Amino acid sequence: MVSNLGILNIEVLRGYVQMCSDGWQQGWHERNGGNLTYRMKPNEVEKCHMFFQTERPWMPMGVQAANLAGEYFITTGSGKFLRNVELKPQENIGIVQINEAGDSWRIVWGLENGGQPTSEFPSHFLNHSVRKEATDGACRVIYHAHTPAIIALTYLLPLDARVFTRALWQSATECPVVFPGGVGVVPWMVPGGPAIARATSELMKEYDAAVWAHHGLFCSGADFDLTFGLMYTIEKAAEIYLKVLSSGQPILQTITDDDLRAIAHDFGVTLREEFLD
Ligand code: 13P
Ligand code: ZN
Repeated sequence: MVSNLGILNIEVLRGYVQMCSDGWQQGWHERNGGNLTYRMKPNEVEKCHMFFQTERPWMPMGVQAANLAGEYFITTGSGKFLRNVELKPQENIGIVQINEAGDSWRIVWGLENGGQPTSEFPSHFLNHSVRKEATDGACRVIYHAHTPAIIALTYLLPLDARVFTRALWQSATECPVVFPGGVGVVPWMVPGGPAIARATSELMKEYDAAVWAHHGLFCSGADFDLTFGLMYTIEKAAEIYLKVLSSGQPILQTITDDDLRAIAHDFGVTLREEFLD
């Protein structure tokens, strides 16, 4: 019999576990806060297949997406601490397969001893569906973190995508290059169900990142590096903005809209025009 831990040597699992540790080290994952899902490539599924067991039951999600039928996702477990993923991956993360109707999952590896996918799996799932569509299949990662500076800003700024985006773009020169489309903002909602999933996925049709008021941030991307980098860049910009606000000093100058246009021109990115004056 093959040990089911052999799967952990496969590159995609190593990258996934590394990202959980990186997020923990940033201070974004107190206790069980935050979650990560990854839509596997067919060749990754093939490499992992010998470790799969398919006798566990299908579980309905309360949301549905035809374009994710039959896909496999790596997911963190509900109530699991991202800090512990590296220590015991087989209990804290798992792989789920989606059924042909695109409305249920079953665990095929991991989440040992009664674990379940993250309570935010419906949000991740609908976000995967819209980002897959919006990026022609390139988007594979959805990441939710409890990023403190972004959360703090949701008490100070109006919960408006234009206001948030401008504050973040002006907080560090590279920001408009990293997220030229800006960030969406979801008002405060009860976490962990189909309602917040639908509200977030509506925004993710247009944005690759969305702020959850008084809760955290959702980011999407083609791979672990790009998605982690997006989370990091947005959170760092929020931190800078907060430091400036907290200084109590008047703001003497900032990056102007003409500056933003100049960056966009030289770096070959298109900024969301309605967010510029
Ligand atoms: P889970 O432990 O179910 O992943 O929930 C954590 C969280 O951040 C909820 O928004
Ligand atoms: Zn959360």
